[in-house]
Amino acid sequence: MNKIFQPFPIGGLVLRNRFVRSATYDGSAERNGCVSAEQLKICSDLASGGVGLIITGITYVHPSGRISGFQNSLAKDDCIPSFRELTSKVHNFGAKIAAQLFHAGIERVKFIKSKDQSALSPSRIEDDLLDPNSYQVMTEDHISTVVHAFGEAAVRARASGFDAVQIHAAHGYLLSQFLSPLTNRRTDSWGGSLENRLRIHLEIYRQIVASTGGDYPVMIKIGVQDGRPGGLSFEEGRQACRLLAESGYTALEISLGLRGKGYSKSEFRTQITARDREAYFRPWCKEVRPKVNVPIMIVGGLRSFSLMEEIIETGDADLISLSRPLIREPQLITEWQRDPAHKAKCVSCNKCFEALIKREPFGCIQERMD
Ligand SMILES: Cc1cc2nc3c(=O)[nH]c(=O)nc-3n(C[C@H](O)[C@H](O)[C@H](O)COP(=O)(O)O)c2cc1C
Ligand code: SF4
Repeated sequence: MNKIFQPFPIGGLVLRNRFVRSATYDGSAERNGCVSAEQLKICSDLASGGVGLIITGITYVHPSGRISGFQNSLAKDDCIPSFRELTSKVHNFGAKIAAQLFHAGIERVKFIKSKDQSALSPSRIEDDLLDPNSYQVMTEDHISTVVHAFGEAAVRARASGFDAVQIHAAHGYLLSQFLSPLTNRRTDSWGGSLENRLRIHLEIYRQIVASTGGDYPVMIKIGVQDGRPGGLSFEEGRQACRLLAESGYTALEISLGLRGKGYSKSEFRTQITARDREAYFRPWCKEVRPKVNVPIMIVGGLRSFSLMEEIIETGDADLISLSRPLIREPQLITEWQRDPAHKAKCVSCNKCFEALIKREPFGCIQERMD
């Protein structure tokens, strides 16, 4: 059998194949953060469609890290029964599921209009458009609260039947903000050197191990370079990957840190019109993988099945992670098993993402227009 469809072990779990649904916010959670009927359907369709591992969308671990009123929450126990229903549906179809644990940091102020200064930031941010009274620079107490919140959320994830958690440390949210020299100007032990800017990532890992007992898989999606001048360099991002793997993280998904201007400087690029525009983070994976002893997930613009096979064969990554193609075709993996020449129908237009920002229902907008 083709290697890509063979079972793959990861931190004590065995995935049925090497396909991962990369974390995808669907704007469909109940207002209290619990799982909705719509979300049960989205994940059931993905699991029945053959993917090995589903990673949920951004799930906040503490109210200060919430970014939307339609986002899932593991900040309290209340939603555990609804998550149990979700994980059990996915397991019934033979897939595994991980919760993506998230804190928005300063990004909260851009999406939730609140005057309560509840957004948190590693440092003061130089941005004329940002009201300096809309957020607080994190104190030691804030950092400790957030680190503990990740630990408690992981305990709830396990109680909910999730097979693993993934820490969101990419795309400009709190942990990206700590890692980037642009947004972390602290002069204490949480800022300055790479080791200091990465300290919170390692503390969160230790906290989760302490609270879950150490045998629970903890993955991380890590932004290895910023999309802005003067931000995190790949040289530092690569070192960060080595330190994260050495600390015990189970797997690394390689992505972008702070976003720059436009989709070309984002994690979800558009205009993937030819094979050589696909897999745009492959060079980073290729560099990181030989330096670490944990599985690497490649994400970003993967569209051709033959290219994915080649990536696995060459060993540039261990797992193939997809978001937009599975919004358009939740059954894509089964389809590829039947017909490897099938072309993913997603045209990478990002209309699905733009619709969510406008509070329109989740799904492939392009398909509705075709
Ligand atoms: C609608 C939408 C929602 C997303 N939500 C998340 C999310 O919750 N967490 C995350 O880490 N990335 C999120 N992403 C980024 C994807 O996981 C992925 O990194 C990116 O889209 C590139 O992969 P693709 O080309 O397979 O779509 C989202 C992307 C889209 C299009
Ligand atoms: S709207 Fe459809 S075609 Fe466009 S990026 Fe989203 S899933 Fe792909």
